[in-house]
Parts: sequence; structure tokens; C-alpha cells
Amino acid sequence: MEPVTKRNRAAWEVASEKHVREYRDLLDQARNGSSLFACELDLLRPMLMSSPDIVHLQSGHGLDDIALVAAGAKSVLGVDFSEVAATAAQRRADELRVPCRYVVAELPGAPLCDECADLVYTGKGALIWMPDLRAWAKDAARLLRPGASLFVYEAHPAVPLWTWDEDEPRIRPDRGYFERSHVNDTFPANGAVEWQASLGEIINAVISAGLRIQHVAEYAEPFWRPDDVSAAAWRGRLPNSFSLVARRE
Ligand SMILES: C[S@@+](CC[C@H](N)C(=O)[O-])C[C@H]1O[C@@H](n2cnc3c(N)ncnc32)[C@H](O)[C@@H]1O
Repeated sequence: MEPVTKRNRAAWEVASEKHVREYRDLLDQARNGSSLFACELDLLRPMLMSSPDIVHLQSGHGLDDIALVAAGAKSVLGVDFSEVAATAAQRRADELRVPCRYVVAELPGAPLCDECADLVYTGKGALIWMPDLRAWAKDAARLLRPGASLFVYEAHPAVPLWTWDEDEPRIRPDRGYFERSHVNDTFPANGAVEWQASLGEIINAVISAGLRIQHVAEYAEPFWRPDDVSAAAWRGRLPNSFSLVARRE
């Protein structure tokens, strides 16, 4: 494992302790509602009608996996390099008796069979940890059965630029859209190096993996709002998230 990935993994093991501390709260959330956004459900609904086997790359606390099963998935296989996160997610899934299974592995390159998924689901803070998006896209594509889809719902690549000022949206003077990386200075990844890619680079990475893009959309709503922050950048004028669906023909 590369030293930077090793450091990120150590940081995520610590950050994922939150999923253990908040185990009961997250269990209640999973039991009583769906963590999937309305825009995700709208896009996923037709794919979920065929009861797909889903692989969730960078599955984190796993709440989305429980929601995906509730929305129609036959099974979800979550992959994450945090043992703490995967163990907590497995415990929750077992307690709720949902068909979710977790593998602890580094991505890209997890030991999963080619063509094991009808749908690969990922996002919500996943792509920023991938230094080589073409390698990531190639790895995601090899998991897809013919006719299967890659689904991404992710922070918009412009998000690192927005300040969290409450009066007016502003652009941070220390960040650039076309930079290669930046250091995160907020929770939960404070101090970690996050990789940047423009929307064009993300789309081209997916195309380079041989997938056919079927949908791209940008949204004003962020996928995550830290408690006690109400940034003007999240009030509808700027892009804060995007979705992408691509199919293996
Ligand atoms: C912001 S979390 C998002 C997780 C999930 N989408 C969610 O909403 O809970 C990012 C996750 O990516 C995992 N991760 C980061 N880099 C990784 C890598 N190279 N291989 C596997 N997992 C990784 C972390 O352990 C963490 O659980």
C-alpha cells in the first residue's frame, strides 16, 4: 500500500469510530428511513426493479446498503479499507437481517470477481480518495456484468472552492478548480490530502473504461451538511453535488 493510502486508511480507521460510537443512532436511522436522496432514488428506481446484486465501493457506515435493499436490491456487497467501518456496517446489517456483506480491501483492486455486479454504486465522499480516476473507473467497470450500470452520486468537483460563509457565497483564495489536490481543513478528514478532478476528467475516466454515459446531472444540494453550519454556498446558486450513470454495453 502506498504511504499516502496508508495514512488515509489510518485516518479513516479513527474517523470510522464515529460509526461505532453512534451505532444505535445509525441503526435507528437505517430501520426507520432511507439514507438515499430523492434524486438518487429517482435514478435508481428502474435499475432496482430487476432486484440487482450491487457492489458498493467505499461503503462506509453502510446505511445506503440497507436503503438499497429496502428499495429492491437482492444483495449488497460493500467494500471499504476501514475495518472499523466494515465491521460496524456488518453488525448493523446482521442485526436488521438484510443481505449485505462487507469486504475489507483497498480500492481500486479489491479481490472481487469480474462481472459480479448488476450495479456498482458509489459516491458521497468516495472519489476524492482516488488519486488515479482512470484506474478507479477501469476497476469499477470490470465488476459490471454486460448490461450493468455504474451509479455515482458525489460532491461536485467545485465544492472545495466554496467558503462556508453564511452571508454570501465566496470562493476560497487558497483553492483552484484545476488543482490536483488540497488539504482538507474540516471534519471528518481534517489534515488529509484529497484528490481533485474536474467534472470533465471524471466523465472522461468513465468513458476511458469503456462505459457508455447515460446521464449526468448537477445539483445545488450538498450530499452532506455538517451540524451547525449553514453556508450561503448551499442555498441554490452553486453546484454542490452531481450524479452520473454509465452502462456496460
Ligand atoms: C466519506 S466516506 C463515504 C462512505 C460512504 N459512501 C458513506 O456515505 O458512508 C469515504 C469512505 O471511503 C473509504 N476509503 C477511502 N479510501 C479508500 C480506498 N483507497 N480503498 C477503500 N476504501 C477507501 C473510507 O474508509 C471511508 O469509509
